[in-house]
Amino acid sequence: MSNREPIGVIGTGYVGLVTAAGFAELGNDVYCIDIDEAKIAGLERGEIPIYEPGLEELVAKHRGRLHFSTDINDALEHARLLFVAVGTPPSYSGDADLTAVFSVVGSMPPEGEHALIMKSTVPVGTGRAIKRRFEETGRSNFRYVSCPEFLKEGSAVKDFLNPDRVVIGDDGDWAGDAVQELYAPLNAPILRMDIASAEMVKLASNAFLATKISFINEIANVSEETGADVSEVARGMGLDDRIGPKFLQPGIGFGGSCFPKDVSALKQLAGNSGYHFQLLSAVIEVNELQKRKVIGKLKRSLGSLVGKRIALLGLAFKPNTDDMREASSLVLAGRLQGEGAEVVAFDPIAMEEAKHLMPHGVDFADDELSAVRDADAVVLVTEWEQFGKLDWNEIAGAMRGEVVVDGRNALDPDAVRSAGLRYEGVGRGREGDPADPAVVAGADAQPASLGSGPG
Ligand SMILES: NC(=O)c1ccc[n+]([C@@H]2O[C@H](COP(=O)([O-])OP(=O)(O)OC[C@H]3O[C@@H](n4cnc5c(N)ncnc54)[C@H](O)[C@@H]3O)[C@@H](O)[C@H]2O)c1
Repeated sequence: MSNREPIGVIGTGYVGLVTAAGFAELGNDVYCIDIDEAKIAGLERGEIPIYEPGLEELVAKHRGRLHFSTDINDALEHARLLFVAVGTPPSYSGDADLTAVFSVVGSMPPEGEHALIMKSTVPVGTGRAIKRRFEETGRSNFRYVSCPEFLKEGSAVKDFLNPDRVVIGDDGDWAGDAVQELYAPLNAPILRMDIASAEMVKLASNAFLATKISFINEIANVSEETGADVSEVARGMGLDDRIGPKFLQPGIGFGGSCFPKDVSALKQLAGNSGYHFQLLSAVIEVNELQKRKVIGKLKRSLGSLVGKRIALLGLAFKPNTDDMREASSLVLAGRLQGEGAEVVAFDPIAMEEAKHLMPHGVDFADDELSAVRDADAVVLVTEWEQFGKLDWNEIAGAMRGEVVVDGRNALDPDAVRSAGLRYEGVGRGREGDPADPAVVAGADAQPASLGSGPG
């Protein structure tokens, strides 16, 4: 028997389930609550509702410590610390929608010694508002701690067990100390601060990372125009330890359930308090334009896209997840269809999820080779590891056309070109530019149709 205290986790999605399994690994009994009855029934049968490396094994390993229920009382009865990991999606205004958070707050009873530990990403001031709500409704014995989550989908289990830091925002009561004790075995730096600052750490971190991505995407776009290779530029920048190499990979824009909504929420939060956060407006705009740049590249090679068959490899917003929320593939597929193209798509893991979200009319292929069959162009959208090992001769044989747009700079340009295909990455110079060695070497071999499109 572990002497660690039992805890509750409310919301068993990407964050909640990983948090629950992670604490179970540390020895805690965890009472997991969700309003989604099907999800809870599945979890009780050992079915993991999401794809997250290592999660299924961890849940199975600690099945005895993990208790699943749709009844919040099961958590209230056994645990004083209740982690909240419900969704905070964007609302129409761009502010975070806190309906689920306040529904949890509203379900807390008047009696008992409990604390809500907020893992959900919420606007600065939410903790203050929740505490006020507790006081106004006679539940002033309830404690509140902000403990934002920084895990990354695709490596969430590892991130939970090896966090860069744990941020705990509290009012100096027992609950903050109890949370610190829970995380102590991870030997990570633990930062204690006030609630509002902890809330801001999360929003500011995501906004900064998104800014880094939009920045390198702009450098890539300028590199493309000027003949520089952004991969070399990023390598040169990243070795400066004030900059660092991470988040310097250009691509076709960031997506996912966090960056777009958190950047927008911070921008709105600033606006609501009277401050115009100009930089974030640019970060968002660059990102939106970046998702559409692929269209220009395809048109430059293929001319009009009407009736052209375009294969999308990868649909999830990043590799190693089935999460399709705000994935760039959704915008890209819609835009391609808008241009009159036929879209065929393949993703190794996210296909089922994608089928609910992709625009009507997209074809789904069973594997890479079926996806590229008779395609005029292939676009790498998500850099799943298996796409790095594709046999480009086989692909060239199956395709109708010869255009390959590498939206993540994840392919080997030489391997693609040596199969007789035309490679275009992001910010790596343009095929057709005099500076491009492939073109200088083989200009005469270019089919006449290439490069004849507008723009
Ligand atoms: N996904 C990430 O990578 C990540 C990383 C850091 C922080 N976050 C933040 O964590 C929060 C959760 O994100 P997620 O991706 O895990 O969301 P999710 O949609 O995967 O999971 C949310 C879960 O909460 C449940 N739920 C909703 N209302 C509920 C209620 N009243 N009571 C009990 N359960 C309820 C839903 O049924 C769902 O299972 C968000 O605020 C998000 O911004 C997410």
